Amino acid sequence: MTRRSVSNIKRLLVAGGCGFIGSRFVRSMLERAEWRVINLDKLTYAGNLENLKGIVEGDHYRFVRGDIGDRTFVDELYDKERPTAVVNFAAESHVDRSILDPAPFFETNTIGVQVLLEGARKHGVERFLQVSTDEVYGDVEKMEPCDEEHRLAPSSPYAASKASADHLTLSYKRTYGLPVLIVRSCNNYGPYQFPEKLIPFMIGNVMRGEDLPLYGDGMQRREWIFVEDCVDAICRVLERGEDGEIYNISTEDEHTNLAVIDLLCKLMADEASMNVASLRNRIQFIGDRPGHDRRYATRAKKIREKLTWNPLVTFEVGLRKTIRWYLTNHEWVESVTSGAYRDYYDAVYVRSWG
Ligand code: NAD
Ligand code: DAU
Repeated sequence: MTRRSVSNIKRLLVAGGCGFIGSRFVRSMLERAEWRVINLDKLTYAGNLENLKGIVEGDHYRFVRGDIGDRTFVDELYDKERPTAVVNFAAESHVDRSILDPAPFFETNTIGVQVLLEGARKHGVERFLQVSTDEVYGDVEKMEPCDEEHRLAPSSPYAASKASADHLTLSYKRTYGLPVLIVRSCNNYGPYQFPEKLIPFMIGNVMRGEDLPLYGDGMQRREWIFVEDCVDAICRVLERGEDGEIYNISTEDEHTNLAVIDLLCKLMADEASMNVASLRNRIQFIGDRPGHDRRYATRAKKIREKLTWNPLVTFEVGLRKTIRWYLTNHEWVESVTSGAYRDYYDAVYVRSWG
């Protein structure tokens, strides 16, 4: 790839670029010659420099460890780097953890976003993209799929902290004229997802010979998107989205959790030469997640029509790729599931939310 001279490049501040989706996004932006990426990440349990292995610091990339909630630090970073655009992935992202302890969710997902927005306003940022979630619409079990105008009715502390951030982002547009964009994505899956989330969690349990615990009756429905498709959508919104707009990102392809695990058992049996019936026998229905939303469903008509985006990876193909990645990346899994993760695992699965 030909690099441009430093004077021609645009400066992009990415917050949370060491997480699952953020790291995939950083890689995609660095493939474009015109951006310098400054990656600001606190490196919580979910952020890992290994996710960006092979990326070298220089004129086009810099990593900065820090907290988006730290006003002085963030202000100095804006001052030094003068970003033209900001994309915020930084968040506490796991619903189950937000049930056990909501406070860090509001510190990062709400206050942290306000700190980033304030810095953007003060330093004249030209585009601020907040990465949100379909969970802000809440449970839509008996409703039509949501478009972007659907009312917000978050159920979990996680979803409430993200909905607050959406409101804050839109308030900075209306009050101060800050150019903002919001994307609301459905469930992502793929390489480098922290193994607390359903798909990598179940792959790990299959490999370790453990049970496959589904919350409640396993009939909750989610839409699933391969992380590369989601990142492609985010790049399009950053580069061509209309100021002030919200874009849903979704495959519109719903599956029950039970159907997801059933398919996962079939593909894992294929990939790891195991017996599919004995894998399916390990599915256990356990105590439900408190406040568990039965269904998320969104319409992605706006992004498809306005930004000619379409997801390219079908669920079965993406799931197989994901399984292969986890089967060949044990070391990464070992390195991220430290002692602290074990405490969390016991609280949810052994002490049943205790
Ligand atoms: P993740 O948990 O894998 O990564 C989050 C990253 O943010 C980590 O690198 C972490 O170190 C960093 N971070 C956390 N707190 C921080 C702070 N205070 N300051 C700086 N950095 C901090 O999350 P993900 O799954 O990649 O999700 C990224 C974003 O996308 C989140 O905002 C999430 O709400 C949203 N989202 C995720 C999904 C999904 O299915 N994973 C779907 C829709 C929306
Ligand atoms: O919808 C988008 C959201 O998707 C994102 O905003 C969140 O950051 C992301 O974590 C994800 O939230 P979910 O709660 O949907 O994802 P999770 O992987 O935790 O769970 C998916 C479904 O599987 C959910 O209905 C709960 C269920 N589940 C999960 C685990 C970990 C189980 O039944 N058993 C489990 O052990």
